[in-house]
Amino acid sequence: MNYNKLANSVGSLAREVGLFIKSEQEKLSSIKIETKSLNSLVSYVDKEAEKKLISSLSALLPEAGFIAEEGTVDPKKADFQWIVDPLDGTTNFLHGLPIFSVSIALTHLDDLVVGVVYEVGQDELFVASKNNGTTLNGKAIEVTETENLSDTLLATGFPYYDFKRLPVYLELLSDFFKTTRGVRRMGSAAVDLAYVAAGRFDGFFEYGLSPWDVAAGTLLVEEAGGMVNDFSNGKNILFGKEIWASNGKIHEEISKKLSQLAEIK
Ligand code: 2AM
Ligand code: CA
Repeated sequence: MNYNKLANSVGSLAREVGLFIKSEQEKLSSIKIETKSLNSLVSYVDKEAEKKLISSLSALLPEAGFIAEEGTVDPKKADFQWIVDPLDGTTNFLHGLPIFSVSIALTHLDDLVVGVVYEVGQDELFVASKNNGTTLNGKAIEVTETENLSDTLLATGFPYYDFKRLPVYLELLSDFFKTTRGVRRMGSAAVDLAYVAAGRFDGFFEYGLSPWDVAAGTLLVEEAGGMVNDFSNGKNILFGKEIWASNGKIHEEISKKLSQLAEIK
């Protein structure tokens, strides 16, 4: 199978669905809607976007199964699996903030072979396929080469459940405030990972995530020359609910710190 060609087709599709999402966000800002109808509009956008993706992805590869956030399709176990998040960064979308994305990955026998993240606000399309590198709007991108922690910019996502790990998470954050150039919180894990791939961030860590938040972004980082692990330095990334992605150079040093979070289960 030509994964490069497939990835480019998936990229066009992500852009198309992203533009639909953007036009819906413009409606949100132009009318004052009560909270309840706002929430149902967002859930309408999520579901519509997912349905569009599923019907087009099914046409691209009929034998593939799906793991999708909104549950508009029955999960089916197959050798090929699409892992789909139609709208990653829903809270940003809801509040009129610019950063949200469409995230689509394909696995073959549990191995990531295609990863696409489309960041709608900046019209940035990130595409990777196995052994073919990562591109941003058609141009090759690579992770940073930063080695010294004091020169690094990290990204994270704040915990929204599993608060028993929070004290250790906050201790780690305060450590990073002192030892790195800074920490950012964008609100879309898929975009955080894409930005590591593009060399904007040197690393990204978060726990409590689902496969559709991280699948595509993981391949973007790996194909851009970076490293991705869980907090125990293992490869249980898609279903392990925790992720540490970096340029590779700072990987071990921060991995040791994040292992404290792995110990609390
Ligand atoms: P979502 O926008 O698709 O929900 C932000 O920290 C990351 O966590 C995003 O990728 C976001 O994906 C995910 N996430 C999942 N559930 C969330 C929730 N209840 N609150 C905030 N972020 C959530
Ligand atoms: Ca998500």
